[in-house]
Amino acid sequence: MLVAGNWKMFKGHHQAREFAAQIRRIPAHAQGVDVVVCPPFVSLDATRHGLGDDSGVGVYAQNVHWELEGAFTGEVSAPMLLELGVTGAIVGHSERRQHFGETDETAGLRAEAALEAGLHVIACVGETAAEREAEETEAVLARQLAAIPRHERLVIAYEPVWAIGTGKTATPEIAQEAHAFVKSLHEAPVLYGGSVKPDNAATLLSLPDVDGALVGGASLDFPSFETICRAGAEVA
Ligand code: 13P
Repeated sequence: MLVAGNWKMFKGHHQAREFAAQIRRIPAHAQGVDVVVCPPFVSLDATRHGLGDDSGVGVYAQNVHWELEGAFTGEVSAPMLLELGVTGAIVGHSERRQHFGETDETAGLRAEAALEAGLHVIACVGETAAEREAEETEAVLARQLAAIPRHERLVIAYEPVWAIGTGKTATPEIAQEAHAFVKSLHEAPVLYGGSVKPDNAATLLSLPDVDGALVGGASLDFPSFETICRAGAEVA
């Protein structure tokens, strides 16, 4: 069971350090749950320091480039992350696909390079509302998954785009069906993401093919993130 908090573009250096000093207490109350936080690049180091050395909370980046170094303004490489003590990265998040030109191909390149360098990877897939309405969900997921490598350090996150930041969580039936489909094509643990909150976490996390959660908004607040991690511990 993995519960990861994606902080998106929230929490700068100071806030991240203070928040991390609270988060470090969570694993002691959430046995069987791997707790991970994904701060913005500039807050990775502060988060590591706030957590201390023995918290057991993993720190992942929200993105990673596929080259080791080079003329790629605005990008960060896997060796740079490893040097900071960062142990993983998200790739292919729908917000990167929507706003920053991320494609299946570039998400795949990022995942491959990160895995090769020794990082863990959370690779995101998910359909838009229009794609679901057009009954293209399975075709979209299959296309996105085909670009994602198979690896023991890789986890998939199923994040239906229409459920992200909208408060419209997938019903348990929709989530279970999509997770089972993803697993039929890709042998990896599958996290659910999209409006996971303290009041729906237990239901979602207890579904047979849901192996954890990728939490956005509700991961920014200590009590709500802790509650979600504890819900994971109950079904782990
Ligand atoms: P919300 O939990 O805010 O809907 O965000 C989900 C997400 O995009 C996590 O990566």
